[in-house]
Amino acid sequence: MSLKAVVFDAYGTLYDIQSVAEITEDAFPGYGEIITQVWRIKQLEYTWLRSLMRRYQDFSAVTRDSLAYTLRILGLTYEGDAFERVIEKYLHLDLYPDATGALTGLKPHKLAILSNGSPDMLDVLVRNSGLDRLLDATISVDAKKIFKPSPEAYELIGEVLGTAPNEVLFVSSNPWDVAGAKSFGLNVAWIERVTPEAMALACVENELVAPLTMFKAIRTQMDELGFAPDHRVRALSELPGIISRDDPGIVARP
Ligand code: LAC
Repeated sequence: MSLKAVVFDAYGTLYDIQSVAEITEDAFPGYGEIITQVWRIKQLEYTWLRSLMRRYQDFSAVTRDSLAYTLRILGLTYEGDAFERVIEKYLHLDLYPDATGALTGLKPHKLAILSNGSPDMLDVLVRNSGLDRLLDATISVDAKKIFKPSPEAYELIGEVLGTAPNEVLFVSSNPWDVAGAKSFGLNVAWIERVTPEAMALACVENELVAPLTMFKAIRTQMDELGFAPDHRVRALSELPGIISRDDPGIVARP
């Protein structure tokens, strides 16, 4: 079966969610890193809890609620404008430096995003970053009112692109998303940006486990769920190399 599309997770894969740290530190001096890490952990937890409870609210609401939780648990008081400045950053997250080059190198395959992001958030983010010029579609799970890694979310790829699961390479840095996509039946490439070796070194060098180290310990290595990716690369720029140029129909095995 030929490869017809490469579909990307957005937050954490194409866009660096750690890039909110500058604005959180500016808005709450001394708390920037702990806010950034607790916020992301709670944001994802809320998507899973709302999916399991069948109490869907879109990613915009979940992102706001998880930030409100984070500021409250840290005992931080704030004016509305500080809160809105932090939230606004989610519309201007930094692209990973190799993202644009990787997508360009993956043409002529169909390119798309499948993200938990709400349509309003994604449309603005993709336009602000210029990826709208490279993507054939930006797909939000909002159409299914349930978040990844539910199978219903991944069904949207076929519904929007007209592809079968084995005609798609799904790309994510989020291990839980990798396992969900593999469980659904997609070909999957995992962007492994944090290795166990790097983690071990970080723990040795930091006597106290820094919040970022805590986040990396929880969210950056594959979980014990029995669904491993087909490809394990260290950067988006490696993706064109795993898709054979002279026979785009075959996903070359590493
Ligand atoms: C996304 C992140 C939340 O769906 O994985 O873009």
